[in-house]
Amino acid sequence: MTRLFHISDLHFGLEDRAALAWFEDCVRRERPDAVLITGDLTMRARSREFAAACDWIGALDVPVTVEVGNHDLPYFNPFERFFFPYRRIRGIERLVERELDLADVAVVPLKTTARAQWRLDWSKGWVTARALEKTLGAIDTQPPGTTILVTAHHPLVEAGTKGRALTRGGERALAELARRGVAAVLTGHVHDAFDLRKDTAAGPVRMIGAGTLSQRIRSTPPSFNDLIVDGAGIDVRVRNLDHVPTPAMQITDIPADAQPPRAPGEPVAPVAAVPPVDPPVH
Ligand SMILES: [Fe+2]
Ligand SMILES: [Fe+2]
Repeated sequence: MTRLFHISDLHFGLEDRAALAWFEDCVRRERPDAVLITGDLTMRARSREFAAACDWIGALDVPVTVEVGNHDLPYFNPFERFFFPYRRIRGIERLVERELDLADVAVVPLKTTARAQWRLDWSKGWVTARALEKTLGAIDTQPPGTTILVTAHHPLVEAGTKGRALTRGGERALAELARRGVAAVLTGHVHDAFDLRKDTAAGPVRMIGAGTLSQRIRSTPPSFNDLIVDGAGIDVRVRNLDHVPTPAMQITDIPADAQPPRAPGEPVAPVAAVPPVDPPVH
């Protein structure tokens, strides 16, 4: 049996101090086998926000994996965004997009952030062919019988059929993960928790989302997911300081437009016609 704490969207710069302190305390007392963080560590990828995030993450005294979110790419410095997108994350570089092998459970990262896209809103997800290939390659090396969890920032598909695709290439990626028998895809970005079973061309696959530990709440209070993995079974409990029961914390659909609302005065996403790049997979 493996116990994992899944957190997301810490958004240092607009973090919820009480929620973070409570989570730290839960980790200290309950000692999960690992903490999985599915992106958006910061608000605007500012150096001071990363420094605070890295200090906080570094103090968690259990194994940690970190995905990069759309808020973690340099926003005000286009040069840095394109050429050194992860420079400010150096303090925890060894934790970023790394694979974690626990007893009978493998956590495999899938990159869904992009430095630029052929559309106006770069905050949406994009699974490039290269990123998917890397993830599938890592899955294929796992011994038979391993329960495989994939971690990414953006949900790969939204639940409704209206609206544009949330994550470019997400549907295809989800089908490939289903084909390989992945037990669940763990994500963040929408700031509300969910636990859905999605049908794909290759069969069903489970999608589990964590809420936020920031002040940028959407429809539920700050929370984290407490996962118990036992064989292929995964039990999910959404824990929150307000003691709201798990089913009431879980949204049943991922919104077609899953962009969390902007904070007052926050700039809109940069708009520019640039060729899409297939960023190196770190
Ligand atoms: Fe977020
Ligand atoms: Fe995000």
